[in-house]
Amino acid sequence: RFSNGLKTMPQIKTLPKIVILTGAGISAESGLKTFRDNDGLWENHSVEEVATPQAFENNPELVYRFYNARRAQLKDNQVSANKAHHALATLEQHWKEQLVLVTQNVDNLHESGGSERVLHMHGELLSARCSFSQQTFQWSESFDSNTACPCCSNKTLRPDIVWFGEMPMYMDEIMSHLSTADIFIAIGTSGNVYPAAGFVQLAKSAGAHTIEANLEPGSSNALFDESLTGLASEVVPKWVDDTIAQYTK
Ligand code: APR
Repeated sequence: RFSNGLKTMPQIKTLPKIVILTGAGISAESGLKTFRDNDGLWENHSVEEVATPQAFENNPELVYRFYNARRAQLKDNQVSANKAHHALATLEQHWKEQLVLVTQNVDNLHESGGSERVLHMHGELLSARCSFSQQTFQWSESFDSNTACPCCSNKTLRPDIVWFGEMPMYMDEIMSHLSTADIFIAIGTSGNVYPAAGFVQLAKSAGAHTIEANLEPGSSNALFDESLTGLASEVVPKWVDDTIAQYTK
């Protein structure tokens, strides 16, 4: 205590608000295929052929089979979180509510890497949804196109996935976060699918510093202030370390 009554206060650095968007590239090194780096075919069906409401209406068994195959990879531990997922979980520990993690991925590798708050804008493989009430349920192996929905007993259960032509989830919340972002980073996404592809523009208009982390510069490259080029498992942990050092030490 000083004689003038003032106390010394520890200096608290304010953390910038960080909005992160991830895509299939962050899970590639875990062993999951990206959408646009291969032939895009599954059992000779294009992804567009099985990931639409029309496909589910015309051939629900085929659509269930498609997602069952993807879910099996997660369940049998054929794939696990990589260094990039773990690094983002570490950043969340430091940033708390000042960090918003939005993913287009339907895998649960952010959660298995330790992230606690993830906005799955394209849905989740490990969840089912009633197409009538929109209530969601943990996926059960017994679910198929004949299952009575646990909430209404109708055959209204479907994979909790946002298909082509449907509106992604949490859009109001995401838009609001983008409008107050200080830093926006897009990791492992090609920038081909809207509305996610437009997030960089929104964040930039709000004054955020924009960063792209990818194997190669993507289609919206001019909108990014900074490019981190390389494998997600290398560039993301380094960016996280640098960011923590810059703002918290
Ligand atoms: N590290 C970093 N980036 C990588 C890596 C890696 N190891 N491997 C691939 N990439 C990059 C690719 O270069 C590409 O730019 O990740 C990007 C993956 O792009 P897409 O396959 O188009 O995936 P994504 O952007 O997530 O697709 C968006 O499209 O079909 C829909 O709903 C689906 O959510 C998906 C959406």
